[in-house]
Amino acid sequence: MAYEAEIQRRKTFAIISHPDAGKTTLTEKLLLFGGQIQSAGAVKSNKITKAATSDFMEIEKQRGISVATSVMSFEYGGKLVNILDTPGHKDFAEDTYRTLSAVDSVILVIDSVKGVEEQTERLMEVCRMRATPVITFVNKMDRDGKDPFDLLDELENKLNIHVHPMSWPINSGRDFKGVYLLPSRSLNLFESNKTKVANDIVRINGVDDPQLPALIGERNASKLKEDVDLIDGVYGDLDRDSYLRAEVSPVFFGSGLNNFGVQELLETFLELAPTPVHRPTKERMVEPIEQKFTGFVFKIHANIDPRHRDRIAFLRVCSGKFERNRPYRHVRSGKDLRFANPYTFLARSKEVVEDAYAGDVVGLYDTGNFKIGDTLTEGEILHFQGIPSFSPEIFKEVINLDPLKSKQLEKGIEQLTEEGLAQLFRQEPGNRKYIGTVGELQFEVLQHRLEHEYGAKCRFEARNIHKACWMSGDETAIRDFMKFRQNNIAWDKDNQPVFLAETAFTLRMTQDNNPKIQFRTMVELAENN
Ligand code: G4P
Repeated sequence: MAYEAEIQRRKTFAIISHPDAGKTTLTEKLLLFGGQIQSAGAVKSNKITKAATSDFMEIEKQRGISVATSVMSFEYGGKLVNILDTPGHKDFAEDTYRTLSAVDSVILVIDSVKGVEEQTERLMEVCRMRATPVITFVNKMDRDGKDPFDLLDELENKLNIHVHPMSWPINSGRDFKGVYLLPSRSLNLFESNKTKVANDIVRINGVDDPQLPALIGERNASKLKEDVDLIDGVYGDLDRDSYLRAEVSPVFFGSGLNNFGVQELLETFLELAPTPVHRPTKERMVEPIEQKFTGFVFKIHANIDPRHRDRIAFLRVCSGKFERNRPYRHVRSGKDLRFANPYTFLARSKEVVEDAYAGDVVGLYDTGNFKIGDTLTEGEILHFQGIPSFSPEIFKEVINLDPLKSKQLEKGIEQLTEEGLAQLFRQEPGNRKYIGTVGELQFEVLQHRLEHEYGAKCRFEARNIHKACWMSGDETAIRDFMKFRQNNIAWDKDNQPVFLAETAFTLRMTQDNNPKIQFRTMVELAENN
């Protein structure tokens, strides 16, 4: 079948990192290899920077750019690479977690000076939940970084994964000489500020090659030999299956800014990384090579032109072939939908496509039909799993400032929360609305967009809520609990009840006092749809 070959050449992944470790720079360098951009700087403007918190024009601009760079596709060596962009800003972490449900593997970028940082740990927890294979790129080797053995230990201990060095650095910072490529036993010598695309690989015959001291200096050569002997003894050859099972992460050292070590990373990634993998649904496992089309929406983005209310839903194709203008079943509503202008991201600008295969992401114009987590099929009732919804960290009550515009406010809040910008919880009686977010930045974005796109004015009043917890377990116990704790119960966007715990202590106490109920700060969207 022709589409089997199409699926086999696809690699869909995300680059994740703690902000500032070098994700944007690396993305850009990968796109340079793919011929998608001609110069550095093109992706950079996608970043929502700290300065942007007070500059709404900037946020608007960046929001626009981030639609265009949400997915970046290019061909390299006969393979089709789909990079799914994840927002670097921690306030948008939830968006990142959802995007991770649509990839088959990730590249993790670590700053060699800072090592494993807080957000890296959280992102890796999400990858571990789904056993997503990870390749690690230790970046900024041109700066005085931590000792590489210490970095490997730190990766293993903090990220709870085994590591397997694929390249090995010769010094760092000013004395950085390059890397020794362990599988091919050759050298990649460092030149700072390399603008050319290809690496200069020096073919040597391992660390015992007599040329080595002349190439990197006597002392460096003997240190490298010592290191490599140790590494060979400890790590041996990489077992691809254990990488695919997400038990081992191959590790590269390089410098994104200097385009150093990026090519070997890309080439190894293309060799090792999984092609589109199966995906679990509530009903059964879906294999990418199944003939019938299935897919799910993992992200919704508002049109950047505020005068048009339509949105773009990003759909990951999970099996079969998606075709333009064919009707597909929208499982949640039971309606058949047809898409006249779906687009992909292969060219620099978005392009209307006739068809797409498992592993691809298509952008669908949406007039309000989609919610994150929705499934499209050729008729089968399926609900894709693994799209998480976490309890927000900050809760505020919406106070309407213009009673004449309450309808607009209601609609705006509904639509913006459907986009996944924030979570909405309603409380009866009194129809109070709480907005929950991961960071403060979303409140500013919400307020701005409500005013500019919906003409509604509101303010947000902080509420003393620690977590929203979804409940599962004994139904009678849940019903009784909800009656008893009515003041702490609210309803999420899918009309599921949540318990609003005021402090970590009350949450613990409540859990202890109600052993028949599980209070969970994370649900999968498929559970509720
Ligand atoms: P992010 O997307 O993970 O947040 O990181 P980004 O690529 O924006 O990189 C963060 C900073 O680190 C940038 O500097 C970038 O130039 C720098 N950087 C990335 N890779 C390397 C590297 O290999 N070596 C060194 N020395 N620096 C690197 P900035 O000053 O914040 O931005 P800019 O003014 O340079 O654009």
